Amino acid sequence: MDFDLKTYLDGKNRKINQALEKLLPQKSLRIVMAMRHSLMAGGKRLRPVLCLAAADTVCGNSANALPAACAIEMIHTYSLIHDDLPAMDDDNLRRGAPTCHVAFDEASAILAGDGLLTLAFEILSSAENLSPARNLSSSGLKNPDKAIDILKIINRLSRAAGYENMIEGQMQDIASEGVLLDVDQLEKLHALKTGAMISASVYAGAVMGRASDEQISHLEEYAYNIGLAFQVADDILNVEGDPEIMGKAAGTDNDRGKNTYPALLGLKESKAEAVKLVDRAIKSLEIFDKEPASIKSGPLCAIAKYIIERKL
Ligand code: IPE
Ligand code: IPE
Ligand code: MG
Ligand code: MG
Repeated sequence: MDFDLKTYLDGKNRKINQALEKLLPQKSLRIVMAMRHSLMAGGKRLRPVLCLAAADTVCGNSANALPAACAIEMIHTYSLIHDDLPAMDDDNLRRGAPTCHVAFDEASAILAGDGLLTLAFEILSSAENLSPARNLSSSGLKNPDKAIDILKIINRLSRAAGYENMIEGQMQDIASEGVLLDVDQLEKLHALKTGAMISASVYAGAVMGRASDEQISHLEEYAYNIGLAFQVADDILNVEGDPEIMGKAAGTDNDRGKNTYPALLGLKESKAEAVKLVDRAIKSLEIFDKEPASIKSGPLCAIAKYIIERKL
């Protein structure tokens, strides 16, 4: 029987949303309301799901990866709040709700982004998350190196979200509005802007699942390809997606002269490129077929396909 992705995603999303609720400060401050507005407005939770799925793949258990998964979703939501600001993409609708600066004001939106970014690292480095006692793997053994593993994840996430990856990608995205890039340049831009955080999400789950170096290197290959495929699909949806379903506007990339795959290659070739990337991603999971039955790449395979078939 085929892997039931819908049930898997529903189950993971429920866990992620419950955990995010708990991790958000229970205070009626305006800044917390602005952070909550964007974080809890919905969203596919793809990056935290990838983090949990990578842990499931390497050790059959993702409970230990949940705090990292939540931190990743906070970093991602911060990036969306800032991406939507008037100085950047100037969008009014996100996750089916008014963007943070529309619902609150620009200063609050900037600060809500800052608040989510810093909260992510507070959660990752908290004493509770570092405690090896909570880190029971499926084998029932404690992980004595948990603090080192968390530091590796903090370092990777800082780099993925930082000036040499996501932020540089956002800089290039804005700077190249109205300037025609070639496909190689666009691939690099997409890898920075979107791919790095997707790769870091998979990496974080793999580390929490105590993956071997070999497993991590195959998962990195998988993540690079789905990261690119994800942004190609985002570009395609901006052309032919339904704003009602997506909860954000369509047609905006063209209006702003953004460099996208459909603008460079056309829709048909962009879709073919996305399929090629997903095929490559799935191929890199083959090593897991040789592993014991508890280790399965079913979720990651299904997520790779979903990334280019999704409507939102
Ligand atoms: C949108 O990301 C921004 C991109 C990097 C393309 P998602 O499509 O994952 O947005 P949410 O989290 O579901 O709202
Ligand atoms: C957003 O990319 C990337 C980040 C937030 C880092 P886009 O601007 O292409 O995504 P959407 O279409 O607004 O979701
Ligand atoms: Mg943008
Ligand atoms: Mg945008």
